[in-house]
Parts: sequence; structure tokens; C-alpha cells
Amino acid sequence: MLFITMTAQTTVVLCLLVKAAWGEMKFPPGFRFGAATAAYQIEGSWNVSDKAESVWDRFTHEHKYYVDSGSNGDVACDSYNRWKDDVRIAKELNLHFYRFSISWPRLLPTAFSNKISDDGRNYYNQLIDALLEEGIEPIVTLFHLDLPQRLQDLGGWANPLIIDWFANYARVVFSLYGDRVKTWITINEPLLICEMSYSDSNLAPGIESIELGNYLCAKNVLLAHATAWRIYDEEFRPKYHGKVSLTNILIWYEPTTGNDSNLGNLANQLCNGIYTHPIFSKTGNWPQSVIKIVDERSKLLGYPYSLLPEFTKKEIEFIKGTYDFFGMNYYISKSIRKSLVNEHIPLWPLEGVPILGAILESQPTWTSGATKWFSAHPPGLRKVLNWIRHNYGDQEIYIMENGYATADTELEDFDRISYLKDHLEQVLLAMKDGVNVTRYTIWSLMDNFEWSDGYTIKFGLYEVDFSSPERTRTPRKSAEYYKNVIETHSLSDFYVKNEL
Ligand SMILES: *[C@@H]1O[C@H](CO)[C@@H](O)[C@H](O)[C@H]1NC(C)=O
Ligand SMILES: *[C@@H]1O[C@H](CO)[C@@H](O)[C@H](O)[C@H]1NC(C)=O
Ligand SMILES: *[C@@H]1O[C@H](CO)[C@@H](O)[C@H](O)[C@H]1NC(C)=O
Repeated sequence: MLFITMTAQTTVVLCLLVKAAWGEMKFPPGFRFGAATAAYQIEGSWNVSDKAESVWDRFTHEHKYYVDSGSNGDVACDSYNRWKDDVRIAKELNLHFYRFSISWPRLLPTAFSNKISDDGRNYYNQLIDALLEEGIEPIVTLFHLDLPQRLQDLGGWANPLIIDWFANYARVVFSLYGDRVKTWITINEPLLICEMSYSDSNLAPGIESIELGNYLCAKNVLLAHATAWRIYDEEFRPKYHGKVSLTNILIWYEPTTGNDSNLGNLANQLCNGIYTHPIFSKTGNWPQSVIKIVDERSKLLGYPYSLLPEFTKKEIEFIKGTYDFFGMNYYISKSIRKSLVNEHIPLWPLEGVPILGAILESQPTWTSGATKWFSAHPPGLRKVLNWIRHNYGDQEIYIMENGYATADTELEDFDRISYLKDHLEQVLLAMKDGVNVTRYTIWSLMDNFEWSDGYTIKFGLYEVDFSSPERTRTPRKSAEYYKNVIETHSLSDFYVKNEL
């Protein structure tokens, strides 16, 4: 009797302990998990039916030397033909949602609404319907780097007319799919579209227009997003009740020493705030610190006015508040320090910040992935989430991408599991800090064409066999891990420990 009582008490105590531990590791009931891909990176079929050429088709075909191994997205994961496989593996993982993007030149061969491609329209209809049938929410990105080449020929994102061109496209997409798609991303990662595509030649369209094109692009991207949001708000929200925002890639710039903290603040505004402040802050407009830095720089270079184009008062009001959630992607942090005398300062946003005279590095304790820019620092995610709250108040935050790059096709990808676990842990810690994160998305559902890294780096929960005509998708260990996180709605710490 005594023995039984003691056991019962011990069991109760143990249960409480376990519950406390799990309680901290648990995500709240409404929290949703998903995985992401993007059209050019998976679809292939670049020249079927009436599909037009995108900047990435042109870039990979003409500038083979810029992309690793001269590869391209001509076939990629062949998702244009094998979308049923994508839905099947999304279901296998029990994803709450699947984030994919629509190819503008596939849907609108002229880039305008005068001609909607039947095949393009049907392709996305089938995909959306199949996902819904499996109980997986489709989250759709309108623009994920694959601009119609026809528009690039007219200046692309540097031409202010793109605001209307994009709005016209957005209206078509909302009207075709808005009855079933309730969560929209207008534009993915302005930092890549404007800074990296204009500052070095690694990303299409590969225009070197540092300190000019990047700023013109930034203004137009923000206005295009705001216009699309307002179109949804006025014409579609009343009947469809969905949510629209953009997603920014946020890099956490960590001061290397205590003396670099101001540099860290400035870099966070220059690379992150430039695309978020105009939309999410109470005042709107570019961050004041960025206006000041670029103004001084422009004067120094003898320009007649600031290289950062001004917003009119009307534009500031027009852009401000055009969101229904805060979308963000996070992969890496960078350690920032003042450059030494005569030290070469490489291009930003990954290696240096010339305008600040600063060098970007990794710290010794941070881990690197398969590619040199990948400096993983999980606490950076918590810091960036708190940075959002500090700058823009309480926001509902959707993490729309986070993932780990490996160099080989390894199925036993414990490094990826550690990365995911460590980052999910930081999400939970940030939530304890009071940050309201409600969605988490892994990049990527499967290996795909990783832009200038081609097929040399892998981000997939599923391995894709690019040498087989079937482009066979095979789950990695991380797929099992993530499936378990989703099913238990908590961090599967035990799985990692047991298996490692
Ligand atoms: C489409 O592109 C492929 C190369 O990716 C080429 O072999 C094929 O001939 C092209 N098809 C058409 C119809 O142009
Ligand atoms: C910070 O700056 C001060 C003053 O210039 C200098 O004395 C100190 O060594 C610096 N600290 C570090 C960690 O670099
Ligand atoms: C997070 O944001 C959503 C949407 O605004 C809201 O419904 C929810 O109550 C918020 N949660 C917390 C913990 O603030």
C-alpha cells in the first residue's frame, strides 16, 4: 500500500516535471507549420505552351558562367508535370500549409492581362484544388524573382511603370484564385530583387548598378506592393476575407565588439528597415538613419540630390499600413565591425557594407552550411523577432522561410535537424519574450534550383534525384523530424537525442 502510494506520488511529480519541460517546448494551438518553394526553382517547363521567358530563363541561358556549373531551371524538379508528387509529399509531412509562387510569364505570356494563358491558369488551379482536397492551405507568392523578360527589357523594377504592371498582374491572380487562396505574399525578398540583383552579377537580371538601381528598385517595389495590397483590400477583401503582405529576408547584423553596436543598428536599418519601415512603422517613409547616411554619401560623391529617391507625403501615406501580417524569411546572421585602415570592403549585404565602412563576417562559434555566405546563428532569429517588435510594435509575424543548406544529397541530415530544432527553439523563446509568431515555414519542401548556387546546395526536407527523369523525391531524416514536430505540435527534442 505504502509502496503504491509512493509510486503514485512519484509518478505525479515526474509527470509534472515532464509536463513543465514539454509545456515550454510546445507551440500554442493555433500555430501553423508549412514548407515553401518557388516557381522558377521547381517548375521547369520553361518553354511549354504559351509561357514567356523570364529574367531567370534569359540569365541562365546567356550567362551560364554566373550560375554554378552553368545549370538552369529548364527542368528543375519538373513540378509543372509532377505537381501531384509535391502535394503527396506535403501531405506525407502533414503540412498545415504549402507556400509556392506563381510564374508571372507562365500566367500572363504578354506580362499583361490582355492574355491569360489557359495552361498557366489551369496549372495553378489544379495545384490549389489538390492541396485544399488534402486539407493543406495554399499560400501563394505573386512574385518570387522571375520577372517577365519583356518587362526587364523596359527597365524592370527600376522603371516606375512597374507599379502598374505589377498591380495589373496582381488583380488577375486575386480574381482567378482569391475564392480559394486566403493568404497572399505579394513580393518575396526585396533585398534580393533590389540589392543583390543590382549590386553584383550573381542574380538575374545581373545589372551592376550599385548605389543607383538598388534604390530606384526599392521605391518601386514598395509602391508596387502597396498598390497590390490596396487592390486586394478594396476589390477582393469584402468577398474573400483573406490576408496579404510581403515577405522580407531579414539578416541579423550582430556587433562584433561593444564598439560596433551603432554599426549593427545602422546595418539593420540599411538592409532590413529600408523595406519594412515604410510599411510597418507608425511614421512610414524610409528609416531616418538611412535617409541621413545615403544623403551624406550622395553629397560626398557630388550628386545633385540623394541617391535614395524621396517619397512624397502622399506616397508615404499610401504605403504605410499595407499589411495584414509581418512576413519574414530568416537564414543567417552577420557579425559587423569597422574596417581597418586600407582594408578592402566587399559588397553588401553579405560580406561588407561599403557605405558604413564595415566588414561582415561570421563569428567563430557560428556554424556554416554548404555555401560561404551561410553563417548560422540561431539566437539571431530571436533577436530579429524582437527587433521587429521593438521597431514596429505588436505584429502578427509569419516566418515564411527558414532552412539549412547542405552540400551533398545525404539522407541522414542531422545537421539540418539541429538547425531546425535550434531555430524553432529560438522562435519559442521569442514568443516567451512576447513576440507574436503564428506561422513557421521551412525552405524547402524539396531540393531545387538555388539561384546562383544552381543544384550544388540542397535545402530540401526531400531529396530530389536530378539525374532521374522522374525527379524522384525521397524523404530525408529531417522530413521525419519535421513531421513529428507538426504532429506533436512541439519541439521533438527526444527524437534528436535518441537518434544522434
Ligand atoms: C525547350 O527548351 C529545351 C531546352 O530546355 C529544348 O531542348 C526544346 O527544344 C525547347 N522546346 C521548344 C518547343 O522550343
Ligand atoms: C573600443 O573603443 C575604445 C576607444 O576607442 C578602445 O579603447 C577599446 O579598445 C575598443 N574596444 C574594443 C573591444 O575594440
Ligand atoms: C497574435 O496575433 C493574432 C492576429 O492579430 C491575434 O489574434 C492573437 O491574439 C495574437 N496573439 C498574441 C499572443 O498576441
